[in-house]
Amino acid sequence: MTVTQLAPYPATRLRRLRQSDWTRRMVRETSLAPADLIWSMVVHDGEGRIPVASMPGVERLSVAEVARAAVEARDLGIPCIAIFPFIDGALKDVDGSTAADPNGLVCRAVRAMKAAAPEVGIMCDVALDPFTSHGHDGVLDDGRIVNDATVARLVDQALVQARAGCDILAPSDMMDGRVAAIRAALEAEGLQDVMIMSYAAKYASAFYGPYRDAIGSGKLGSGDTLNPGDKKTYQMDPANTDEALREVALDIAEGADMVMVKPGLPYLDIARRLVDAFAMPTFAFQVSGEYAMIMAAGANGWIDEERAMMESLGAFKRAGCTGIITYFAPRAARLLKG
Ligand code: PBG
Repeated sequence: MTVTQLAPYPATRLRRLRQSDWTRRMVRETSLAPADLIWSMVVHDGEGRIPVASMPGVERLSVAEVARAAVEARDLGIPCIAIFPFIDGALKDVDGSTAADPNGLVCRAVRAMKAAAPEVGIMCDVALDPFTSHGHDGVLDDGRIVNDATVARLVDQALVQARAGCDILAPSDMMDGRVAAIRAALEAEGLQDVMIMSYAAKYASAFYGPYRDAIGSGKLGSGDTLNPGDKKTYQMDPANTDEALREVALDIAEGADMVMVKPGLPYLDIARRLVDAFAMPTFAFQVSGEYAMIMAAGANGWIDEERAMMESLGAFKRAGCTGIITYFAPRAARLLKG
């Protein structure tokens, strides 16, 4: 058979639209912009910047440095920063009681950031784990994480964060009923404009490993039988998908303004389902382990780190997410700005 055979040529050649950069740009279905990014950032109570070994390129920043970072976010067009505290071991106890200190590290960081760049949104994690000696997100009783006593503490924590100027409260604890309790307390205190982005579908994941290193959270279950070695009694089972719809439906009913899926890339199917089912502002958290994997493979020359970063961020937009909470935010925003 010769190649001169003429028919039938395909009338449809999908490659036609891929032939040059301008055609690809013209027909592109989704795009990424600095406004899609929430910059996740670790703050510490010392001086300067301290590198996080398991997250190359991420540093713990002092209060003065996070204020400078807020200005940088503004200049890069990043709308919001999510802060996570590295708490000194001496300030931790079994109940995480310093979580609701109005002069604690988180509140001081929020005030400094708001003073430096008031036009940048600040989001705070509502959870006890940076403040508990055992690293769990709740109060322990006889080896169990007690739901309602934990919620009462989360409400206190959320209120001090809101009074310090936090714009978005992000409960990441996965206790039942916490969004309703926080929303009711905000209303009662005249803080009705404070937003809630609930970590609605948050899974008990191995991908949070480097974060525990970053915030200095102890190894779960270490040497104590009354301290569970994982968070499976409160965070979701990675095998579940319908349950995510129930979690999100509850959080919306309880007063959440936005919802989140966490981790990100391994749970893109969940993000897509939530967007389709609820049409709510839906964010994905590209967590520490996802960041570390891209950086580690990049450092070894196994993947093109920058392209993998942009491709992974773009995947969230393609899946329908409103935006992405990511440690890559400043680097990606710099690239996007050109
Ligand atoms: C704490 C919290 C975690 C993360 C954000 N908030 C860890 C956990 O639930 O164990 C993970 C962030 C990351 O891995 O980047 N409630």
